[in-house]
Amino acid sequence: MHAGPWHSSATAGPVDDYLYSMLPKRDDVLAEMEDYASKHNVPIVGPAVARVLQQLALMINAQSVFELGSAIGYSTVWWAQAVGEKGRVVYTDGDPKNATRARSYFDRAGVSKRITIHTGDALEFLSEQKQQFDIIFNDVDKEDYPRVLRLVSPRLRKGGLFITDNVLWSGRVAEKNPKQAETKAILEFNRQLYNSQEFFTTILPIRDGLAVAWKK
Ligand SMILES: C[S@@+](CC[C@H](N)C(=O)[O-])C[C@H]1O[C@@H](n2cnc3c(N)ncnc32)[C@H](O)[C@@H]1O
Repeated sequence: MHAGPWHSSATAGPVDDYLYSMLPKRDDVLAEMEDYASKHNVPIVGPAVARVLQQLALMINAQSVFELGSAIGYSTVWWAQAVGEKGRVVYTDGDPKNATRARSYFDRAGVSKRITIHTGDALEFLSEQKQQFDIIFNDVDKEDYPRVLRLVSPRLRKGGLFITDNVLWSGRVAEKNPKQAETKAILEFNRQLYNSQEFFTTILPIRDGLAVAWKK
């Protein structure tokens, strides 16, 4: 059994266990981060989604990634490994304690030089960016998702990827009369993303749902 707090809503049960059993062993630092997240209920993407993120980055030869909502830096390390020595990843989180913990993991994983750490509001920091990134990864508070979407396009290169976690929200997106503000925000976000003429979007139903939007 490979249970962790990142386990799936979309593929629960034996299929989920099978998917996780197929994953290659992670290196010591990533394994320690998974362990810490599990013990302290830090909502990381987990290894199955992280592997998709890294694969997508490798497929488009991404050299620059902007991450909104990085927590202890678990997904950040996977990005940093994908972009290689010359690549750059922007870590953002509102909680300075997360950033301190993340920094020590980055040092130990040997990827510090590839990562810029920003503590503060991720949306504000993205809005200040003058460059275009290869990938923008969205994992902040769910009520902010529609606002994130409005910021992304000018800061993403043509052919780049806008990737968002938790877009199935433990299946709540399928409720008949959703009341929760987060669910409503995610529904609005998914609708706008699919309808956008700027992006070609699919939702991968892995774990809690990963939206992958390719900028045309
Ligand atoms: C789901 S966790 C990120 C997990 C991380 N992406 C991973 O998979 O390893 C979300 C994080 O986003 C941070 N956060 C939420 N809204 C934010 C905002 N507007 N600006 C900066 N950080 C934010 C929270 O502090 C939290 O640590």
